[in-house]
Amino acid sequence: MTEGNGAAIPAVGPEEGKDLPPVVSIENISRFEGQEVTVQGWLYNLRQSGKLLFPIFRDGTGLLQGIVAKKAVSPEVFALTRELTQESSLIVRGTVRADSRAVGGYEMDVTQLELVQGVPVEEPFPITPKEHGVEFLMHHRHLWLRSQRQNAILRIRHEISKACRDYLDGEGFILVDTPILTPAACEGTTTLFETQYFDDKAFLTQSGQLYSEATAAAFGKVYCFGPTFRAEKSKTRRHLTEFWMVEPEMAFATLEDAMKLAERFVTFVVQRVLANRKRELETLGRDVSRLEQVEVPFPRISYDEAVEILRRKGSDFEWGGDFGGTDETLLSEEFPKPVMVHRFPAAIKAFYMEPDASRPEVVLGVDVLAPEGYGEIIGGGQRIADRNLLHRRIQEQNLPEASFDWYEDLRKYGSVPHAGFGMGIERVVAWICGLEHVRETIAFPRMLHRMRP
Ligand code: 4AD
Ligand code: MG
Repeated sequence: MTEGNGAAIPAVGPEEGKDLPPVVSIENISRFEGQEVTVQGWLYNLRQSGKLLFPIFRDGTGLLQGIVAKKAVSPEVFALTRELTQESSLIVRGTVRADSRAVGGYEMDVTQLELVQGVPVEEPFPITPKEHGVEFLMHHRHLWLRSQRQNAILRIRHEISKACRDYLDGEGFILVDTPILTPAACEGTTTLFETQYFDDKAFLTQSGQLYSEATAAAFGKVYCFGPTFRAEKSKTRRHLTEFWMVEPEMAFATLEDAMKLAERFVTFVVQRVLANRKRELETLGRDVSRLEQVEVPFPRISYDEAVEILRRKGSDFEWGGDFGGTDETLLSEEFPKPVMVHRFPAAIKAFYMEPDASRPEVVLGVDVLAPEGYGEIIGGGQRIADRNLLHRRIQEQNLPEASFDWYEDLRKYGSVPHAGFGMGIERVVAWICGLEHVRETIAFPRMLHRMRP
């Protein structure tokens, strides 16, 4: 079989009967100093200087500069290397040597190089080291993911997702997955994606919360972690139509418990990334001094106090309104670490929010705003426990009662005060990585005007 420029695709993996050097990941290369190893990857860049070639290899875990000396390899390997095109796939063997000047601190004296698939010269890899516009890069997202910057972002995303799970698992929460196809709205009816469900219709879930309330009554402490959908017509740097949310929910818990969990949870996640993803944060040029300030406790302000702050800062924000992106930025600028805003007007929050007993016009909800202008990363609070009140709210908001009968059951059979929240992973990635826009925080973003690739 031949492909691209006609190079044969060799079998990958140890050839029988031969004692080949071990296949290693570039991220672990320091463990193999002085040894002969095999690296499987792609050509990132190539420089030539007389009888020396300096290919840089990439294997998804890091970059490694190779040195191909004319006198150290066969004439075929030298000629092959000299003609290598960007992103051609290859298998390379050689000896690892420390060199403080090299990317990653190590180099490889190459002895063997096999081409797996050569990128044709007449159809070069579209993304070159020169500057490209955002639209072009988004259009080529499937290839853009190979860049060092995107690699660093998605590795940090992985760390964040894992930290979320590790923290909640460690605190005794049970992961219970919730459905994506649902019969009803959770977060208001204006952002629902509707889809055909045989002879009926269904909606893509906006949040697993309602189901997590059921599982919290079954397990005590639970979380769900999955994709959620909002038909947001907003074209902002914070909105996606498909995003991932981690949602812990606790039985016998109040707004206060949700806030305590939120600040510990966020702190744990940030500290995990600082501890394990130093190199990636460096690649992104992130100023980590701001992240290092993230520690419990977080400042807490009421919605009323938030309105005062906004007005003091020159905004004409009126009590009763919902915060927009600019308001959130103004508020978060006041604090060096995330700030928790609680007790919002009932009218701007979801139907399930528990009213404050001493002041029923506000609800026991909380938003966590990230610092440095990254806006809301968490929304949650205490849920209505009373059966009659919940029923009234469902009617007031004209929600389809038949779809909520099971949810109302939870208030019929051993209702308890309960609370939780949802944290949007992409917003957290954008903040921790210091990114301009959430479009780079997920491998294949879905936005108002983008469904490709
Ligand atoms: O504040 P939201 O709408 O809260 C809920 O969905 C609750 N049911 C969660 C719960 O209590 N279990 O969304 C929660 C978080 C936001 O703070 C934000 O981080 C993220 O989800 N989010 C979005 N992220 C990207 N694009 C969007 N369109 C988002 N909408 C919400
Ligand atoms: Mg919210």
